[in-house]
Amino acid sequence: MPETLRHILASESPQSAITVRGWVRTKRESKSCAFLEVTDGSCFRGLQAVVDATLPSAALLSKVLTGASVEIVGDLIESPAAGQKWELQATELRLLGEADASYPLQKKGHTPEFLRTIAHLRPRTNLFSNVFRVRSRMAYAVHRFFQERGFFYVHTPIITSSDCEGAGELFRVTTLKQGSPEKPEEDFFGQPTYLTVSGQLQGETFACALGNIYTFGPTFRAENSNTARHAAEFWMIEPEMAFCDLFADMTMAEEQVKYLVDAMLTECPEELEFFNKFVDKELVNRLKQTLEKPFERISYTDAVDLLLKSGKSFEHPVVWGEGLQTEHERYIAEEHVKGPVTIYNYPKSIKPFYMRQNDDGKTVAAMDLLVPGIGEIIGGSQREERLDVLRAAMGHHGLSEEDYSWYVDLRRYGSVPHAGYGLGFERLLMFVTGVSNIRDVIPFARTPGHAAY
Ligand code: 4AD
Ligand code: MG
Repeated sequence: MPETLRHILASESPQSAITVRGWVRTKRESKSCAFLEVTDGSCFRGLQAVVDATLPSAALLSKVLTGASVEIVGDLIESPAAGQKWELQATELRLLGEADASYPLQKKGHTPEFLRTIAHLRPRTNLFSNVFRVRSRMAYAVHRFFQERGFFYVHTPIITSSDCEGAGELFRVTTLKQGSPEKPEEDFFGQPTYLTVSGQLQGETFACALGNIYTFGPTFRAENSNTARHAAEFWMIEPEMAFCDLFADMTMAEEQVKYLVDAMLTECPEELEFFNKFVDKELVNRLKQTLEKPFERISYTDAVDLLLKSGKSFEHPVVWGEGLQTEHERYIAEEHVKGPVTIYNYPKSIKPFYMRQNDDGKTVAAMDLLVPGIGEIIGGSQREERLDVLRAAMGHHGLSEEDYSWYVDLRRYGSVPHAGYGLGFERLLMFVTGVSNIRDVIPFARTPGHAAY
């Protein structure tokens, strides 16, 4: 493999006869030569190639336009130009693929909204190439975090017959013809099936065998909320830990967020500099502050109290027993705590069946981690490990024990206290890049009314 620009630009000394392959960002021409800014996607920076008009292959220059792909052989020399250490003195230019004047990325400065309409080309822009390099490095850091701690990576199913969250946000999976009578027994799997909303329930079976496990995969929600933080297809990271309670779960979540923020600060410096300059001027400060202190922890009941006492008029009233709205979450994280905060012990009536009931009979051992600018990035809980209490909760939620007998078995045979959480990978990426719309941190966004590509 020839070296990528990432390596070439980090060169310590001049090099002769190297080959650079990439796409032309810009071309400037003078009488005696042309300057081609070439990028190959391996890093944010490009390399300026100087093509002398006397070169035989300079004849190609009239066809080398913005967006074209080229291969340039030449010598890497110290650049006399300001702001760049190296430039390439071309000895040969080859045009691999032309791009004509209809290429949509002729100039800089397109809005993210416009670029969403050309999701197949936007990874070539500064903003999106930075976002997607970070996405890849963060995914690797997620695996590293768990693997360093001895967690096993489990692949939970994408097609499932259970609804983990019980929120009725399932996409149906079927081979039945549209309009044919509803006969699940004649369907492909012989029963109704859906795209998973969470790998948690299946993850629990593996935690109750291997100890500490995690999943990291796509999840799907037919949630009809067209917000900047919701996608119908998103990636979730779900650790599940045997012999673990709610507080150890919160600690783990905090450690993980800090680890990933630290990875952003240390492993993505070029991208971070770009985001801090062009996307969110407070980003680096906010990320550094995230590492400084322990995350605050506030019980749901205390959170309701402080919202009521805040003197703020919220659009949605604050009522004990109801879910916290984004405006409430953001007030707590941004104005009250001014940093990440974990809210725990939520009313049981608003939470799924699997969460462990607290002794007060009214709340469950749930936790949400909220961060400034976004709100919830993690939702988790200690799971109900007591057979009788779980059965009662299932009855209460109208779940048939037959359908979930495998899940109940975990409480029948060697039940252990266990806990876990789900970290929304795109929400994490929004937090570490400052990018404010979830559609801009996922390669091909799926949102209500949109599933292009
Ligand atoms: O809070 P949620 O719904 O929790 C669960 O699904 C649990 N089963 C997780 C567990 O305990 N193993 O979702 C977890 C996280 C949220 O905090 C959020 O970051 C993200 O997943 N999330 C979404 N991200 C983008 N678009 C959506 N529609 C999302 N819904 C949830
Ligand atoms: Mg949640």
